[in-house]
Amino acid sequence: MSETVIGIPQSFADAKINAERYADMYARSINEPDAFWADEAKRLDWYKEPTKISDVSFAKDDLHIRWFEDGELNVSYNCIDRHLPERAGKVALIWEGDNPAFHHSITYAQLHNHVCRFANELKKIGVKKGDRVTLYMPMIPEAAYAMLACTRIGAVHSVVFGGFSPDALAGRINDCQSEFVVTADQGVRGNKGVPLKANVDKALEQAPDVKAVLCIRHTGAQVPWVEGRDFWHHDLALEVDAKCEPEPMKAEDPLFILYTSGSTGKPKGVLHTTGGYLVWASMTHEYTFDHREDDVFWCTADVGWVTGHTYIVYGPLANGATSLMYEGVPTWPGPDRCWRIVAKHKVTTIYTAPTAIRALMREGDEPVSKHDRSSLRLLGSVGEPINPEAWRWYHEVVGDKRCPIVDTWWQTETGGHLITPLPGAHELKPGSASFPMFGVQPALVDTEGNLLPDEGAQEGNLVLLGSWPGQMRTVYGDHQRFVETYFSTYENMYFTGDGARRDADGYWWITGRVDDVLNVSGHRLGTAEIESALVAHELVAEAAVVGYPHDLKGQGIYCYVTLVAGLEPTEETEKTLKAHVRQEIGPVATPDVIQFSPGLPKTRSGKIMRRILRKIAEGEYDKLGDISTLADPGVVEDLIEGHKIST
Ligand code: WT7
Repeated sequence: MSETVIGIPQSFADAKINAERYADMYARSINEPDAFWADEAKRLDWYKEPTKISDVSFAKDDLHIRWFEDGELNVSYNCIDRHLPERAGKVALIWEGDNPAFHHSITYAQLHNHVCRFANELKKIGVKKGDRVTLYMPMIPEAAYAMLACTRIGAVHSVVFGGFSPDALAGRINDCQSEFVVTADQGVRGNKGVPLKANVDKALEQAPDVKAVLCIRHTGAQVPWVEGRDFWHHDLALEVDAKCEPEPMKAEDPLFILYTSGSTGKPKGVLHTTGGYLVWASMTHEYTFDHREDDVFWCTADVGWVTGHTYIVYGPLANGATSLMYEGVPTWPGPDRCWRIVAKHKVTTIYTAPTAIRALMREGDEPVSKHDRSSLRLLGSVGEPINPEAWRWYHEVVGDKRCPIVDTWWQTETGGHLITPLPGAHELKPGSASFPMFGVQPALVDTEGNLLPDEGAQEGNLVLLGSWPGQMRTVYGDHQRFVETYFSTYENMYFTGDGARRDADGYWWITGRVDDVLNVSGHRLGTAEIESALVAHELVAEAAVVGYPHDLKGQGIYCYVTLVAGLEPTEETEKTLKAHVRQEIGPVATPDVIQFSPGLPKTRSGKIMRRILRKIAEGEYDKLGDISTLADPGVVEDLIEGHKIST
């Protein structure tokens, strides 16, 4: 069967980046990186233009990553103030509520007013430059105001996804010694309330250093209140000035922390800095989405994830774009909600995740085709490999075969897109993330760390040979962990944790994580985190967690659990443990399957052989490989017997 290749549509003939331009710019970004990045830095307004462009070493014992080091700028100025002369009346944010009757638009002038006030409110509760502020927010414009307000005064935000539990929130508050929390009374998703303020109060029982909580009234629900510690945003807004000068920041000053899961231990605080991140966010938003002035850009991610940071807030606003923020879920109140939104707001670009595409695809074509989608010109995918069926449906049904799909590969750590097609430059192969962004040097290594030849078809572990401005700078509070996680597996290279192949035409295909990180409905989870939640329960002696292929979620969570001696598992035990993990981490981490097993496959030195557990979870009993090194090969048969097909 010949491979599908989809050509560049006529509508992208005048795209900013065509094939020739891509080739020229890519070559220059590699051959004369400092000249290239000095030019790209001009897309921002600097108080002091950078003259030192890059200073990078990936060497384990001298790791440092610095971009635009002597430059000075302010992120909120770049996302708001500088647009005011030309775009004061242009819509910056379109907010679409969970309830379809609720929506409003915020112009750049209004955004300026909101963010300045919010910044002054933060100052009023005691926030100073360099302080960490934890945001635990629903998808409402105030989430963006709060983020931008932090950047305006040089505070460092740490947004914690509103679906995380009080325990998870407390851990993230304490890890970065955050003394301030911004939240709302409640969030709303699919007409159900999410008790954000109540969760914050629970979290603060374990985070005693928090001095102040700023709360947005969103639904008007009754919430617990601690006088002296808690402040209503609408009260403070009346007390503060509408003017707030942006604070000039050094390019390498911290901008935000965002927690993400790794293969070991608790979540890491990924730290991004000011100048490099914003250049990257702005550049990738412009080129990947071929941004045009009258676009209506809809990224469906939550602001609690990096996709929401870079492609709802910073990238689009740095470019003076109109960004749509949707509060609710894709299928409420009906299966056609997304397409209703597209028609209502004349969305030009949708950027969403394969898991959402698969869920919408299950609803059939009719909910899509009954709405006018003529405004759409480009579709994007992010978060996990997109399977060919989902790709085709997205392309043919949603995009009427008119709209290219940009399948963007990147990570929380990378700040923005690293491998992606550019719609005017590249023909598309469904399922391929295609080509590297400017300045990005992907390569493949074998398990010994040998670089594979950079021509012809190859498959291996994906590494990056050099830095790019949007790269994370450290793990907050634990630089050694940064070195160990990303720069110690292979010398002088950044290890992504992903496997990949490059085909004979040079197209990149991401094959998925090669470490113990799961990707469940586009949410990243460490198996170690789920295991430690399980073993924290008094009934559990030991646990091992692996992923298995799941039709809708991409990967499901499969847990092998050994109960403490003498206990017999019941249905109740299973329910209890699922609820326990959900409570410790959050609903996204709820196990799909729990298999009770009296023993786990261990080597004689006591190491659990996950490879075997993965194969059993996948039902591939004949591919277990060598089991002779197990201390007790007998456990394998028991495990196979107990294997549960997920429901
Ligand atoms: C991991 C990063 C990127 C922002 C959202 C997720 C997987 C991401 C793709 C893609 C195949 C992808 C990788 C990566 N991933 N995009 N287009 N094709 N896999 O960010 O939570 O930091 O997760 O998501 O495995 O390492 P994240």
